[in-house]
Amino acid sequence: MKGTLPTWSELAEPDRHGGEDLSTVDPDAPEPANLWRVHWFNDAKRTGRSPVPAHLVLPPEITGVDSPIVVLIGRRFPMISAHKVLAAYACLVPRLVTGQFDPARDRAVWPSTGNYCRGGVAISRILGCRGVAVLPAGMSRERFDWLRDWVSDPADIVRTPGTESNVKEIYDRCAELARDPDNVILNQFSEFANYLIHYRCTGHAVDRVFSHVKATNRSYRLAAFVSATGSAGTIAAGDYLKTQHGSRTVAVEALECPTMLQNGYGEHNIQGIGDKHIPLIHNVMNTDAVVGVSDRTTDAINHLFGSYVGRSYLVGRRQIDPVLVRQFDDLGISGLANIVASIKFARHLDLGPDDVVMTVATDGASMYDTERRSYEERRYPQGFDEVNAGEVFGRHLEAIADDHVLELRHVDRTRIFNLGYYTWVEQQGVSLDDFDRRRDQRFWQGLVDTIPSWDRLIDEFNEEVGHAPRRRVS
Ligand SMILES: Cc1ncc(COP(=O)(O)O)c(C=O)c1O
Repeated sequence: MKGTLPTWSELAEPDRHGGEDLSTVDPDAPEPANLWRVHWFNDAKRTGRSPVPAHLVLPPEITGVDSPIVVLIGRRFPMISAHKVLAAYACLVPRLVTGQFDPARDRAVWPSTGNYCRGGVAISRILGCRGVAVLPAGMSRERFDWLRDWVSDPADIVRTPGTESNVKEIYDRCAELARDPDNVILNQFSEFANYLIHYRCTGHAVDRVFSHVKATNRSYRLAAFVSATGSAGTIAAGDYLKTQHGSRTVAVEALECPTMLQNGYGEHNIQGIGDKHIPLIHNVMNTDAVVGVSDRTTDAINHLFGSYVGRSYLVGRRQIDPVLVRQFDDLGISGLANIVASIKFARHLDLGPDDVVMTVATDGASMYDTERRSYEERRYPQGFDEVNAGEVFGRHLEAIADDHVLELRHVDRTRIFNLGYYTWVEQQGVSLDDFDRRRDQRFWQGLVDTIPSWDRLIDEFNEEVGHAPRRRVS
């Protein structure tokens, strides 16, 4: 096993451990030292650390609402330029430190809609074990290009039928792979470590950014944390923030696949949101609202924010700060969905200028360059001009209303929770008791209480394999 494993607390608060100088380590190389960059505090060059996680504050000229909308940027995470490498690390490490995963023998299987399996393949390679990516064949070309460069054998990329909404097909393939005892399936949708790492690390990072923003206006309140749910790992940060700020936790889904809103199904292009099911690790009974966002909106904004013409329209005609517009490179499609949902939610509750809505952009725009090109070819075969940019701005940003926002009552939460029964109890064999105990918030608090034990086990593991834990600055 290569490298020292960081504890979850070290990743949550990297400034509290002494750490080594990583400035000469390429953040995108399969280097064990990059485990120490699997956190929200990487600086702009991704070689050093920043005291505050990268974020954008979106002004009313863009959002049309008074509430500041603050977006944490996942693109600075190492190796995959997306925060899903954090979830991958968290899902493997508990198996490793408890002896349930032998890196010399076992293959780590990463079921995903794209970013988690890239994170998993990166973590596997760093730890010197084999990683197998399982993802739908219809995901973006950039994801497959990346995977081809990183897997040790092309057979370690397993393509399942369909696109984003075909999570069942991924599970079926994993069930086949699980017949080989050397394959260890690290299912992000049911690994509670995914919940815990986001509770601890993403929760802390959002809180840190909020304190930073609040320093400019003491009246700010953290009104809501908004997160599109794929595995429902990221949204766990909302549970933490609620304990600190009493904020609301808002789940986002594609309108074309309204599972939480309507028990619905369908295809869409908000990549990273796997659906038609409720993840086992989603604390549904603590979720306050669901917002549906159409992929027609996110595809159009992806084009407006990412194209040369769109950007010159925003700067020239809309007077948006060019520095901010350049930072739209940090916003992938699901990040745009989170922003649109934040606007809808702010409108729905008539939030004011002191009510801050926080959200994340899991990955950046470069992951969707081919999507943008094919969108332009399909939608604007004669080319995209400033008039088209104005139409997109008017139709897809200015016109955002509070449609498809559902504030959850007990009966709504119960419906969504119950929907998970069909996946987890009927299909995946989770016992009814284990399924049901997640209704009670004491179950989730009990999970959170285990975080220090995981940190201890990681430290002990490092000592056993001969790596001294890094010095911590207290
Ligand atoms: C681009 C993107 N956005 C959003 C998500 C959803 O995040 P989570 O799985 O933590 O719910 C994912 C998950 O893979 C993703 O890849």
